[in-house]
Amino acid sequence: MDAQRPAILAQDLVKRFGDFTAVNGVSFEVQPGQIFGFLGPNGAGKTTTIRMILGLLKPTAGRAEVLGLPVAQAAAQIRPRVGYMSQRFSLYNDLTVRQNLTFFGRAYGLSDAELAERMRQALDMAGLAGREHVRTKDLSGGWRQRLALSAAVLHRPQVLFLDEPTAGVDPVSRRAFWDMLYSLAAEGVTVLVTTHYMDEAEHCQRLAFIQRGRLTACGSPEEIKRSLMPGPVLELAPADAGAALQALRRAQQAGRLPPAEIELYGSRLHVVAPEAHRLRRPIARALKAAGLDPGPMDLIEPSLEDVFIASMR
Ligand SMILES: Nc1ncnc2c1ncn2[C@@H]1O[C@H](COP(=O)(O)OP(=O)(O)O)[C@@H](O)[C@H]1O
Ligand SMILES: [Mg+2]
Repeated sequence: MDAQRPAILAQDLVKRFGDFTAVNGVSFEVQPGQIFGFLGPNGAGKTTTIRMILGLLKPTAGRAEVLGLPVAQAAAQIRPRVGYMSQRFSLYNDLTVRQNLTFFGRAYGLSDAELAERMRQALDMAGLAGREHVRTKDLSGGWRQRLALSAAVLHRPQVLFLDEPTAGVDPVSRRAFWDMLYSLAAEGVTVLVTTHYMDEAEHCQRLAFIQRGRLTACGSPEEIKRSLMPGPVLELAPADAGAALQALRRAQQAGRLPPAEIELYGSRLHVVAPEAHRLRRPIARALKAAGLDPGPMDLIEPSLEDVFIASMR
């Protein structure tokens, strides 16, 4: 591998299914050792893009490279050097923890000695030492995903593709999973991960947003915030955020409030608009008219979730 080359390169990738274009000219690079977040709503084209980069799906147009090798010509050389946790299938639920790891180790062609050593490391990494004989289907979602990640790196891949690895997993398990990703990246593994959790996106070094098959933004979380949404967000902390949201939406419909995206953010409301500070007064007025206490209002830096919501308009 040429050290100057990106670990992953996508160049004008296009995929059409019949007359439907699922991926429409996607280009990006991922540098070695980076954690690259690939974000977008369901159906945006994330899985299709990954499958083209892995050589599992032939692009209609465009090309991809992994570790400096062209995917179309060098799939056999690339395969042993990448790991893939697919969105649908990653483990056999009827097998035990040990049986699953053995299955993947054999599939990757590990020797008995390698398998024994890596099995121990994988069990440690997933925190499953002592639970080798538990059936995979009896593990909670969080443990299953950590096991799946351990299985995906048994053969020590240099590049890892993770397709929504933490979907439906509780926040504590998601954090444990991300700790595993950080350790892998610190060892030099390149990680491409799709997610729709914005807190996870903030943990990536670089991000690409995909919508309806096209990249709408690409860069560091900070760059994306700056390019997509200059200006702060107005954060409200009303006593009853749900009631306040309804009152503000009604005021908007009645034309008593200028256009703005207003979203529930835990127990707070975020008002996203080009000049959000100008909305303080009309918002206070609309809430008081509805008999609600506006509570404190602060101008804050947008989160990635705010940016995402703003960019979907
Ligand atoms: N084999 C296929 N045949 C037809 N349409 C497909 C096929 N695979 C995916 N699609 C469509 O392509 C779009 C992108 O899908 P996908 O890449 O799975 O999105 P994501 O992973 O971002 O949710 C979706 O509209 C999906 O229905
Ligand atoms: Mg998908």
